[in-house]
Amino acid sequence: MVATIEWTPAGVVMIDQTRLPKEERYVTCTTYEEVAEAIRSMVIRGAPAIGVAAAMGVALGALRAEAGRLDEEFETICATLAATRPTAVNLFWAIDRMKRLYASLRGKPVEEIRAALAREAQQMCLEDIAINESIGRNGAALVPDGKTVLTHCNAGALATAGYGTALGVIRAAVSAGKKIDVFADETRPFLQGARLTVWELQQDGIPTTLITDNMAGHFLKSGRIGCVVVGADRIARNGDVANKVGTYSVAVLAKENGVPFYVAAPVSTLDLTLTTGDQIPIEQRSATEVTEVFGVPVAPGGTKVENPAFDVTPNRYVSAIITEKGVARAPYEESLPRLARYTERT
Ligand code: MRU
Repeated sequence: MVATIEWTPAGVVMIDQTRLPKEERYVTCTTYEEVAEAIRSMVIRGAPAIGVAAAMGVALGALRAEAGRLDEEFETICATLAATRPTAVNLFWAIDRMKRLYASLRGKPVEEIRAALAREAQQMCLEDIAINESIGRNGAALVPDGKTVLTHCNAGALATAGYGTALGVIRAAVSAGKKIDVFADETRPFLQGARLTVWELQQDGIPTTLITDNMAGHFLKSGRIGCVVVGADRIARNGDVANKVGTYSVAVLAKENGVPFYVAAPVSTLDLTLTTGDQIPIEQRSATEVTEVFGVPVAPGGTKVENPAFDVTPNRYVSAIITEKGVARAPYEESLPRLARYTERT
């Protein structure tokens, strides 16, 4: 399994996800501004991965800040990283965790503060892998044996510190001996499915077939797909799920065809402050992601474009939400807060 992100003495090292699968290139960020740019430009992407990257960015910023100006700069560092991508709540969750730690260290020697922040960010990276393994264990039983699993975007090792959420469930099902294969939606416009999910699953030897997004309905109707498993960027209190644009269409088609639709995500992706998914901010990205493929225009110059990076799937299409603390089912207003409370106690 590839290391998505790593804290090293030289800086924060990330595999460049804009170059995969053509090139396995690593980027080293030596300032928090570089980490922010890596998140914005999707060198690193996926909700849990950008959370870990932001935490490491905060630690890196504190390490490089002038000792006497740390308090003042800490605010700027956190604000810069928080302004990178608006939808995935893991980003804000991670920054808040670093802020809480910083506040608890007030008055301590600056070297101690810096070391504690660096330790915390690395700890979050390790925790994320363990969380994903638990998500996998909790979800494996839901995957029908002998069938195909459909997934959208990349919710794999590359989208997390390792192992993955949706792909974690698939990995755990395979480890449990289930004979399954995967259909990966290509996931226009950024092609996370074609470029990243297929690449990642090939590394693990899990049989994977690439389909274009508009083929999903055809295969969901065919009886071949046993379940859909996707990740999430933010889940509202009522179980509405924001995930990569196109997820909503897959969910509707899954329900129409009687195929279970599962969302795999850590508890840190729950945003219980939002009553419904309508309140989730949706990131709008650049028009060129739609009008060009690898820099080659595929539409006439001056074409008007919409490019919402995410959509919201209403809870009625979600068969279950698989977390590290257990599997939540409707009514989500009851099951999700119960899982979150359980997490606070453990
Ligand atoms: O725009 P991206 O590539 O960051 O979007 C990623 C997704 O939508 C993932 O499905 C989600 O973040 C879950 S990753 C475990």
